[in-house]
Amino acid sequence: MASKKVMLSGMRPSGFLHLGNYLGALQNWVKLQDEYRCYFFIADWHALTTEYEYSAQIGENISEMVLDWLSAGLDPDRAVIFRQSDIKEHAELYLLFSMFTPISWLERCPTFKEALRQIKGRELHTHGFLGYPLLQAADILIYKADAVPVGEDQAPHVEFTREVARRFNYLYRPIFPEPATRLNHYPLIPGIDGRKMSKSYDNYIRLAEEPEEISRKVRMMLTDPGRARRSDPGNPKVCTVHTFHRAFNDDDISRIEEECRNAQVGCVECKERLADSLISFLEPIYEKRRELKGWPAYLEEVLEHGAQSARRVARATLEEVREAMGL
Ligand code: TRP
Ligand code: SF4
Repeated sequence: MASKKVMLSGMRPSGFLHLGNYLGALQNWVKLQDEYRCYFFIADWHALTTEYEYSAQIGENISEMVLDWLSAGLDPDRAVIFRQSDIKEHAELYLLFSMFTPISWLERCPTFKEALRQIKGRELHTHGFLGYPLLQAADILIYKADAVPVGEDQAPHVEFTREVARRFNYLYRPIFPEPATRLNHYPLIPGIDGRKMSKSYDNYIRLAEEPEEISRKVRMMLTDPGRARRSDPGNPKVCTVHTFHRAFNDDDISRIEEECRNAQVGCVECKERLADSLISFLEPIYEKRRELKGWPAYLEEVLEHGAQSARRVARATLEEVREAMGL
């Protein structure tokens, strides 16, 4: 039997997840678990590159995020689920890579330049933040990943990882495969106010949102502003509720659009239907989370179990690396 290809991805621990995070990454991860040998990890050292002043919060953010991962269907029996900082070999590989990685590769990284422009209230002219993509390269290459599922924003980091792999393979001995970028294609979901869904805009729907909260948030969603009265025809193209229907009720979307355009349905009812489908979609996740929440030792067990598998592979790679470098 041919062995499965290796797939790896990580998330910075941001606490509980919202629907945008789910559609953008997690849902895809859950689907990949059988096809690949999967590694999914919490990038807590990466969180420190920007949150070093708030490091005390990271532990709780990890637990909240892992709860959401497991509730959504990541399965510790099928995928290796672990915490980056439990595998110290990531740090060693990062250090060894840093010896031959030109600073200019890091300085010209588009995510680095972008973050310096965009992120306010953090001093990011640090060694750790500059090295962010290199730590990511170590995360990926240490498990010899064949593919990395990421959003568009992370594609430059996977490209950078291939460059690091090539440089190592050329300088010492070919050890590392060049990982492919596997872009997530998913329906883009706005927040309830129509902007990008984000915790900082307070416009999100949690992955494990309570049913009543889902209804309340859907009622607050922006609709076609040109549709003042029930009898006015609506334009679904400019309506946030419609965008959600497209993601969650795609089978029914032509009927929904037609009823809106012909004023056969009112916005109140259209929202109720959306809330119903969201609630039934999210209910299993919500229930599973409630169950897991009462069982904190289980989270630690999952991470410990994952760390054991990850560590074996990471150690073997480091032995090869040291040997290839003559250390
Ligand atoms: N940088 C990624 C993010 O912000 C998280 C991450 C860290 C990652 N290491 C990784 C993703 C390795 C994929 C592979 O989302
Ligand atoms: Fe939006 Fe539905 Fe109202 Fe049309 S009927 S404007 S799709 S909420």
